[in-house]
Amino acid sequence: MNDIPAKITGNDRVTGGYRRLTVRLERPLGRVSPGQFVMLEVPDRDIFLRRPFSIYGSRGRTLTIVYRVVGKGTDALSAAARGTSLMVLGPLGRGFAPGRGKTPIVVAGGIGYAGIRMLLRRLGGRATLFFGAAGEEELRLAEDLEGTKIFASTMDGTRGFAGDVVSLLGQRLGEWRGKDPEVFACGPSGMLKSLKALLEPDRIPCQVSVEERMACGMGLCFGCVIATRDETNPYKRVCKEGPVFSLWDLSL
Ligand SMILES: Cc1cc2nc3c(=O)[nH]c(=O)nc-3n(C[C@H](O)[C@H](O)[C@H](O)COP(=O)(O)OP(=O)(O)OC[C@H]3O[C@@H](n4cnc5c(N)ncnc54)[C@H](O)[C@@H]3O)c2cc1C
Ligand code: FES
Repeated sequence: MNDIPAKITGNDRVTGGYRRLTVRLERPLGRVSPGQFVMLEVPDRDIFLRRPFSIYGSRGRTLTIVYRVVGKGTDALSAAARGTSLMVLGPLGRGFAPGRGKTPIVVAGGIGYAGIRMLLRRLGGRATLFFGAAGEEELRLAEDLEGTKIFASTMDGTRGFAGDVVSLLGQRLGEWRGKDPEVFACGPSGMLKSLKALLEPDRIPCQVSVEERMACGMGLCFGCVIATRDETNPYKRVCKEGPVFSLWDLSL
């Protein structure tokens, strides 16, 4: 883990309220596991706390994140021009660990796609993606993904299955019977709860990336804890013990 000076090389709209930020780091992040994240300094002197973002892409000294503008930090980030300096702390947290010989099913909800995209690239054509979006525009986030079979759902019914992505997965899950499936997911907590209910009868292995508000991102402040089923030490730090957990360890 490093705190690295960087300069913005691109900060462009992808679709809807989503943007892609690329930065040139003074030195490489080093080895990155899919699902790990960085704490980004927001280039605005009134914003003190850094913000966590999944590592969307990392190659040499180039880091890419994809983000949705939701509040003052991401709004300030969206206004940052090329050449702006910022600090990048990372790579942080524990990422996904795909099991050998298993058949991966990846489930993403909305901006959760950013948290799972590096995993999809690593798994290549072995994975099937179930991508749930609010509407057609959000689905465009996955347009840069090649070689992965995608089942799409939209809540407004503008494309693919009309409804939520876990219902879509529920309709097709039988196709993976006997194939030793393993599920990886990133999305809102409601989606993770529905996923748990769907996978519970067969206890299909499932790793999920969870989101919590963070202050330090390094395990120091305990501001990001979530409840788990561990009886001796139930509260785990999302930034340190996560953000990826086994779905069966969480108290959702
Ligand atoms: C490990 C991790 C990885 C993430 N990866 C990405 C990513 O790749 N792309 C992306 O767009 N976002 C990602 N997020 C969420 C991102 O960090 C927040 O959207 C961002 O910090 C909001 O900052 P803000 O100042 O714009 O919003 P604020 O003004 O702080 O808040 C605006 C709204 O967003 C909600 N919010 C803020 N932070 C979070 C959070 N961490 N989780 C859930 N809700 C939150 C607030 O409750 C509020 O409703 C990630 C979060 C975590 C913990
Ligand atoms: S954000 Fe400080 S411990 Fe996780």
